[in-house]
Amino acid sequence: MKYGFFDDNALEYVITTPKTPLPWINYLGNREFFSLISNTCGGYTFYKDAKLLRLTRYRYNNVPYDNNGKYFFIKDGDTIWNPGWQPVKTALDSYECRHGLGYSTFTSSKDDVEAKVLTFVPMEDNCEVSKVTLINKKNSDASLTLFSYVEWCLWNADDDMKNFQRNLSTGEVEVTDGGSVIYHKTEYRERRNHYAIYGVNTAVDGFDTSRDAFLGAYNGPDSPDAVKEGKCTGSVASGWSPIAAHQINVNLKPGESKTFIFTLGYIENPEDDKWEAPSVVNKKPAIAMLNKFKTEEAVDASLEELKNYWKELLSIYHVSSSNDKVDRMVNIWNQYQCMVTFNMSRSASYYESGIGRGMGFRDSCQDLLGFVHLIPDRARQRIIDIASTQFQDGSAYHQYQPLTKKGNSDIGSGFNDDPLWLIAGTSAYIRETGDLSILKEMVPFDNDMSVAKTLMDHLKCSFNFTATHTGPHGLPLIGRADWNDCLNLNCFSEHPGESFQTFGPSEGPVAESVFIAGMFVKYGEEYAQLAELLGDDAEAARAREEVKKVYDATCTAGWDGDWFVRAYDANSNKVGSKECEEGQIFIEPQGFCVLAGIGVEEGLAEKALKSVEEKLDTKYGVMILQPAYTKYHLELGEVSSYPPGYKENGGIFCHNNPWVSIAETVLGHGNRAFEIYKKTCPAYIEEISDVHCTEPYVYSQMVAGRDAKFFGQGKNSWLTGTAAWTFVNISQYILGVYPTHNGLSINPCVPEDFGDFNITRKYRGATYNISVKQSGAQKGVSKLLVNGKEVEGNVIPYEEGVKEYTVEAVIG
Ligand code: GLC
Ligand code: GLC
Repeated sequence: MKYGFFDDNALEYVITTPKTPLPWINYLGNREFFSLISNTCGGYTFYKDAKLLRLTRYRYNNVPYDNNGKYFFIKDGDTIWNPGWQPVKTALDSYECRHGLGYSTFTSSKDDVEAKVLTFVPMEDNCEVSKVTLINKKNSDASLTLFSYVEWCLWNADDDMKNFQRNLSTGEVEVTDGGSVIYHKTEYRERRNHYAIYGVNTAVDGFDTSRDAFLGAYNGPDSPDAVKEGKCTGSVASGWSPIAAHQINVNLKPGESKTFIFTLGYIENPEDDKWEAPSVVNKKPAIAMLNKFKTEEAVDASLEELKNYWKELLSIYHVSSSNDKVDRMVNIWNQYQCMVTFNMSRSASYYESGIGRGMGFRDSCQDLLGFVHLIPDRARQRIIDIASTQFQDGSAYHQYQPLTKKGNSDIGSGFNDDPLWLIAGTSAYIRETGDLSILKEMVPFDNDMSVAKTLMDHLKCSFNFTATHTGPHGLPLIGRADWNDCLNLNCFSEHPGESFQTFGPSEGPVAESVFIAGMFVKYGEEYAQLAELLGDDAEAARAREEVKKVYDATCTAGWDGDWFVRAYDANSNKVGSKECEEGQIFIEPQGFCVLAGIGVEEGLAEKALKSVEEKLDTKYGVMILQPAYTKYHLELGEVSSYPPGYKENGGIFCHNNPWVSIAETVLGHGNRAFEIYKKTCPAYIEEISDVHCTEPYVYSQMVAGRDAKFFGQGKNSWLTGTAAWTFVNISQYILGVYPTHNGLSINPCVPEDFGDFNITRKYRGATYNISVKQSGAQKGVSKLLVNGKEVEGNVIPYEEGVKEYTVEAVIG
């Protein structure tokens, strides 16, 4: 069952009922000011950091779900309704929500009154703009009252929901222009130089800034007293819970419409220019912001700018094939999700509360892989930021806070895959741009500039960290965990409340990871190539020698007969082996070792992927392990704590499905690679939205596995490495346009019935118009013509100054 449809021409997903199985959300904002908005107008807003600078409150884990947002109420006689249906939930006569790229619209009607709401974050301003239009479609005059409502968060979202003894007394506001503009200035007096505003471009008939006054004690936003009365109270909040609400009386003749523009903004003042009078905040920048979006023309132009921005970004990689689902994912939604994961890492979604995780070291490095072609300059800065949280021994903070860019010491370091992901991200950036200068940038360790070294030295530290932390079998030590946060082989937690990852010794001299071995082979080689590009052949040779050792260990101690072992635990027992009672085969080493090229010549790769197909495959994707753990294994940790079929215990953890798909392309299996791609691809499972539950336009972290009661159900949508890895898979491996250091390589691996396709790729200042002809084969370019001339091999030689390349490739 579907709850909407794709409108590819408009670059939108259209939701036709507010009652989706879960809130289906969108992200507004591209740089520093962000909002989450659901199909029922729920969501929240923050500036730069979802924990430290949260503008509006959201109630996670509440009933009904998706509670709190930026709401508009329409009172028409005794009927009160919302364009997004929530929070009042009055049945609507019509409803449509369109999630576009950086904006959302709602068009709803009730009793012949139509409301249109457009909400977006402009390109250059720290605000969210909502254009609200009311249209009278009755035969008679309509006398309506429009109310707006937002609830302020007292900035630190973590403290805001814990520290009531203080927070119920700190709230402060100012109100100007008869109530049209409301300033939220809690803590501005002392240590902050920022405030928030909510203003509307018209005179108002009332306002409220105290939540209790607007809602009434014991009421929620589903039944605000002020709206029921048809009148705000003019409250000026002092402590308790400040809000911003406007009341506008709207009289409309038949056929008449009126439009209002609401601006929710974040304003920062210079330290020495905070006040315009004692206790009165300096409003100059706020007034400028409000003036900027005073007219419909200005708002429409700003939306147009945003749309053009996205069109431009999406023209960098564009495919046109005979397969509309592939085209819509590649050309629109997958790249859009890559931007969102780049911006958010794993911090703020409807499932990540925005107060816990900040930016993940491994997560953000992987997010770069799907983003770097879009805005290389931002990727460059991100690489430097991430590398700045590395320690001198090559290990790294597992997470850092986006506002301060400092590592989070409560989690610390010790996740032994982290260092290698820095090589992955940097290599992708350089292959995209050719910009070797980044390797010479001076980058601090743990944010301490006095011990800064070049980025290349950082990569060397990463490489050496793995090379020097190997265990009894010559495989890399796992530390607290590798990519799989739940494989806690040094932890031994027996009591609830202990962190699985940081409890116990956490890092031990024995437990080893075959997954990190796969990473070391792949990214060790990429490191060696960077060394060569800098002219350091000796370092490249040294790196390849180290890689060879781990390669050999993986093919011996890391091989179980029919598939790769997952790990060795702290007692040197195998994890992910036939010998195990449960958890005999894991997906990660099969996918990653094969995509790294391990065992391809030896025939191990072929066997490993066959085993994946036999043991882990389902109709909804490839499960992370089998058989799922039914008992808690103290020596394995959190992985065995989840009920079978969920999360890391046998769920379909979407992130590593593209690894297996890429691995299949390495072996030339286009049919199978594409079959795996399709199983988790949102556009392909749109029809089963009632089973899948999460948004049909983006990937989720997990789909419940075969052992779970709700097999096929998605969870934790949006913020997942699946976005980047899937884009890498489909764009670079299946469709086969891969950036190398020497130029674009064309080497598709597609199903035999895929048909011809064309790709436009902008790369290093040139446009490549690539047409691929298929003659029944899955892989193997038999002919490559570049600007009419035949070229040997797969790589289009890069010629300085050439702006257009016409490329014709024949598979088979
Ligand atoms: C989560 C984490 C990611 C980890 C994965 C597997 O998605 O964000 O860092 O690799 O789970 O445990
Ligand atoms: C839990 C989750 C895992 C996530 C980690 C992040 O272990 O199962 O998916 O990566 O928490 O802290």
